Amino acid sequence: MADERDGTFFVVRGPVEPGDKRGRELGFPTANIALRDQRGELGDGVWAGWAERADGARVAAAVSVGRRPTYYGADGYRLVEAFLLDFEGDLYGERLTVWLGKHLREQQGFGSAQELIDALGRDVAAAREWVAGHPADALPTLAALPPDGEVQRLG
Ligand SMILES: Cc1cc2nc3c(=O)[nH]c(=O)nc-3n(C[C@H](O)[C@H](O)[C@H](O)COP(=O)(O)O)c2cc1C
Repeated sequence: MADERDGTFFVVRGPVEPGDKRGRELGFPTANIALRDQRGELGDGVWAGWAERADGARVAAAVSVGRRPTYYGADGYRLVEAFLLDFEGDLYGERLTVWLGKHLREQQGFGSAQELIDALGRDVAAAREWVAGHPADALPTLAALPPDGEVQRLG
């Protein structure tokens, strides 16, 4: 798959929107960004990547792109949800830029919240491994910032 090639990134930028707050209950609060293009080149999946905050700080992330099939079947709207590693704080309203670097797995509809929590734990471990080999200062630079919610492909 082209998006698994090392060196290819997808970048999405946008303001962090309030989610269902379920992420907090699961132990994995996420920063949610609406995708303007509901189909597009970037398919659903789970990714390792980096999120850049408004002040330029870059935080490693495990990122979900999709419709949360565990809770919404196939009817949910697509969004980008970034779980920032080793981060605590309120990001609502802040504009984040998210680099998706490695496709980890497809979206799944889990039978229970615990199964989703277990999968998220594995995603975080896989994301940590990827970011260790792909430091934030080695990310490709953006020629121009993409409009909110639009996906830009780099490489
Ligand atoms: C790394 C990661 C992987 C995820 N994978 C899935 C998945 O496979 N299936 C799914 O239904 N939801 C997945 N999610 C989304 C969670 O269902 C969602 O974050 C949770 O329900 C909280 O939603 P909220 O942000 O609206 O509160 C994933 C989220 C993250 C951060």
